[in-house]
Amino acid sequence: MSVQEIHDEPAEHGLRSVPDKESTNRKFYPRGLGLMTGFKVARLEDIPPGSRKMVIADDQLVALFNVDGTIYAIDELCPHQGAPLSEGLFVGCVAICPWHGAEFDVANGKLLSRPGVRDVNANQVAIKGDDVGIELT
Ligand code: FES
Repeated sequence: MSVQEIHDEPAEHGLRSVPDKESTNRKFYPRGLGLMTGFKVARLEDIPPGSRKMVIADDQLVALFNVDGTIYAIDELCPHQGAPLSEGLFVGCVAICPWHGAEFDVANGKLLSRPGVRDVNANQVAIKGDDVGIELT
């Protein structure tokens, strides 16, 4: 099973690497076993408390945030003009868009302040050993 890792730190130049097609994640849990179906996207050790990381699941960009040991997964792209939320400030449970400052609750994707235009998707997260899996909303 492959692990998708794009980068650990925000890019200083504002550009981000584009993953190749082969790096798209495979299913994290098998279907039909009563378990979550989703995608393995990272190792737990790669996202220490207080950090964030962009990953890709099924060609969708997702931002992972570790809030005091709990991993949350919301859409990576801000719905205002598409800024990468994993590259903005991250205070407590709030991700701040790096371009215009919209704030989102990483636990549920709720828009907390403008100029954001709507909530972002919050995806279910499951930890299996050292693997972080998500189920896309
Ligand atoms: S792109 Fe996020 S607030 Fe404008």
